[in-house]
Amino acid sequence: MSMTIPEIGMSRDEIMIEMSKARERDARWEEGKIFSLVFHLSDEHTEFLKEVYTSFFHENGLNPFAFQSLKKFESEVVRMVANLLNGDDGVVGCMTSGGTESILLAMKTYRDYIRNRRRDRFFIPEVIVPDTAHVAFEKAGEYFDIKIVHAPVDSEGRVDVDAVERRITSKTVAVVGSAPNYPCGAVDPIIELGKLAQRYNLLLHVDACIGGMVLPWWEKLGKEVPLFDFRVPGVTSISVDIHKYGYSAKGASVILYKSIEFMREQIFVYVNWPGGIYMSPGMLGTRPGGAIASAWATLMSIGEKGYMDNSKLLIDTVERFQEGIRSIPGLDIVGNPCGPVFAYYSTDKNLNIYAVADVMEEKGWHIDRQQKPPSIHQMINPTHKDIVERYIEDLRDSVEKVRGNRDIGRYSKAPTYGMLANIPARALVEKEVRKMVEKIFTGEFDMEKFGERVDGNRVLKILREMLSKLRIKK
Ligand SMILES: Cc1ncc(COP(=O)(O)O)c(C=O)c1O
Repeated sequence: MSMTIPEIGMSRDEIMIEMSKARERDARWEEGKIFSLVFHLSDEHTEFLKEVYTSFFHENGLNPFAFQSLKKFESEVVRMVANLLNGDDGVVGCMTSGGTESILLAMKTYRDYIRNRRRDRFFIPEVIVPDTAHVAFEKAGEYFDIKIVHAPVDSEGRVDVDAVERRITSKTVAVVGSAPNYPCGAVDPIIELGKLAQRYNLLLHVDACIGGMVLPWWEKLGKEVPLFDFRVPGVTSISVDIHKYGYSAKGASVILYKSIEFMREQIFVYVNWPGGIYMSPGMLGTRPGGAIASAWATLMSIGEKGYMDNSKLLIDTVERFQEGIRSIPGLDIVGNPCGPVFAYYSTDKNLNIYAVADVMEEKGWHIDRQQKPPSIHQMINPTHKDIVERYIEDLRDSVEKVRGNRDIGRYSKAPTYGMLANIPARALVEKEVRKMVEKIFTGEFDMEKFGERVDGNRVLKILREMLSKLRIKK
């Protein structure tokens, strides 16, 4: 890339123009056309968040002594979330940059907890996670030398507890459950996992990055929500994102531990650095003050009543979506979701769900495709309340178009996704994806071309070539 820092800075006006041009192809979240990545409560709330964020724009959460305001906000956010999740006074935690960091920290903490107890710094622990657990657990395995062991889920999308038990070995240190999981929105049987954890003396992490700030309100509103929080005996830690269904600015999550006994292992201290004595609770050094301040301000300004009112609206929106999807022949909801996240799939082998996704994208929707099973993922937020009917109408029409034209499934992204989902040799898929990511970072990848129509035959040719490399008979 030939780009260099301009010799003389551009005018701010020119920069603003260039930036708005750059975002022309971005997903239109303001119109409710995207179902992940953005959690928008209302324009007024966003304006308030911007004000809060900018007023703590330069403050740094790295040093709690320098910015005691941030320490107060962080401690109070942790306390408020711990209380919401029925933690007692012994529950401790800190804010992190997001769900991934919270999960990474919990896994690193448990690894070190067990290594210290066994007095073996090279011990490689095993953690059992449902197949549907967030991919951040895999990342933790790769980063921290933890063996991640997978357990299958049942037809409702909840982890099979007997299968978890069968996977317990002398090296197992922890089990994980989600509340709810990302792929299909089901809540794992946390009570049963808690019993197992207690019986085998294991730690139990609940990933409530999605549900922590939404399911407690749904429960209070009388919805049937399985217990998943500190009321469940055996639960030792919970991750909760404030920047998802807490509606705060990005960069805000909380990791909570049942006791300081665990959190102790998370804290990093180094006293021999020439730069001074260094300590930090999480993975980051500098921590953006705006994210911490916004999380506090969000909880304080929305309040219990605001979250309850918003939850009523969310429940209604989710139900309208699910009813609409189920009313279309050939489509159904995956498993048994509980909360604002779910997925739908094709029950008809002649209806290619990826082709449906392609037609929906032509209609301007930003669609999240999943594999295992091939499905479309929806994370509902308040912005979606006004677009349900339009979405369902477009979905009905897309399904009819795909049924009426078999060719649709052979073009665009459908064959690529179908191919990627069905290749048995996952190592080969990983290799290809790694190549693509490397090209993104070396600048060889043409982002603008990505997503354009691709000839299905070309994709099939690539697939054949890939398979022949592995000498797999098609
Ligand atoms: C259940 C669950 N856990 C963890 C995460 C990771 O959160 P983040 O993207 O904030 O790192 C997500 C993200 O969608 C999630 O759905």
